[in-house]
Amino acid sequence: MKFPKGFLWGTATAAHQVEGGNLNSDYWMMEHLPVTPFMEKSGDACDQYHRYVEDCALLAKLGFNSYRFSIEWARVEPEEGEFSQAAIEHYRRVLNACRDHGLAPMVTLQHFSSPRWLAAKGGFESVGSVTAFARYCERVAHELGELFASACTINELNSVPHLQVGGIMPADDVIAELPWRVEAARRLGTTPENFSMFPFCACSVTGENVLKAHRMGVVALKSGRGKFPVGMTVAMAEIVAVPGGEEKAAHAERISEDIFLEAARNDDFVGVQTYTRRRIGSDGPLGPEPGLEQTQMGYEFRPQALEVCIRRAAAIAKVPIIVTESGIGTEDDTRRRAFVEAALAGVGRCIKDGIDVRGYYYWSSMDNFEWLLGYMPKFGLIAVDRATQKRTVKPTGEWLGKVARANSTEIAD
Ligand code: BGC
Repeated sequence: MKFPKGFLWGTATAAHQVEGGNLNSDYWMMEHLPVTPFMEKSGDACDQYHRYVEDCALLAKLGFNSYRFSIEWARVEPEEGEFSQAAIEHYRRVLNACRDHGLAPMVTLQHFSSPRWLAAKGGFESVGSVTAFARYCERVAHELGELFASACTINELNSVPHLQVGGIMPADDVIAELPWRVEAARRLGTTPENFSMFPFCACSVTGENVLKAHRMGVVALKSGRGKFPVGMTVAMAEIVAVPGGEEKAAHAERISEDIFLEAARNDDFVGVQTYTRRRIGSDGPLGPEPGLEQTQMGYEFRPQALEVCIRRAAAIAKVPIIVTESGIGTEDDTRRRAFVEAALAGVGRCIKDGIDVRGYYYWSSMDNFEWLLGYMPKFGLIAVDRATQKRTVKPTGEWLGKVARANSTEIAD
């Protein structure tokens, strides 16, 4: 399969997962609570805060032409309304490092972590988050926009309903009572009702706020320097109804994906992020089909899910598609290669059928901090030695880099 001219071949990361020392964020605070849902602390992560030049050089050398990363809001606006010029200059250097190495920077403005002050004011459960997010986007675009190749507003802005319908996140009333939420609120000098950390939020109120924040964020990003496409990224799964579960599956699809994809209709693109499929029965989520291979995340090994999701996203959003995340957590790199080959074959079929797919970003560039699960799941194309920070490219990284350089999967190994 040959890909269209100008196809974006990238890898993706998020600030909190790779930079290290994200001290002012809600996630860092949560990781350090005596009762915490996190299996371990993010610590130095991959120290990309200091090693971004080395990392850009390595990704470019492998053959990629783009890099998706996030700017950390908690660094750029450490207190409400107080912007750090030093942090902005840091990201200017990161963006320049991408450019110097021929990597088109795709920038995510919010990838799960937020400043503590936002969490203490209700995060995205509070309507104040909408203007706060827009103000942050405006400032960043004004300062750095001319270096962007493209931008994503809030990573997986549908993640609250997505996790709830998948049975991964408890219902709204349970979330509000979780012991760590109570302790986190106390630490921040607020009450549990006023504390919220994305995406551990009440679904009922977050959806509308993130959609408004997205819309205002798009306007703010476009008001700054530079002209670049802006889109939302949507967490998607191939949702399958097991007999009896048809109604529940249709409802899950509607509330966790479709309403967000419909809201993407005025955007320049929609980012599809797919890892697996979900089976839904008459009582709700069923988990992976017994006997089938599972990944380190406990997901069904299901690379075919990507094609299904691209087709649905294109049919509903009716805008160009970029696969902003596709990947697998596994210790066995041969399974990673099999996963990516199958996922790309699906992307190829979509393109052949006339769907405007403009890029593929593998999650993740390197093994990193996988949120609640810490450093156990290995998503990276590059392994990172946690003691020395030494990077070692895995065979799938070498192969996918060659595919990227050739713009084709028809390459000799
Ligand atoms: C998130 C990433 C995460 C990945 C793998 C995505 O939902 O955007 O931050 O690491 O999934 O679980």
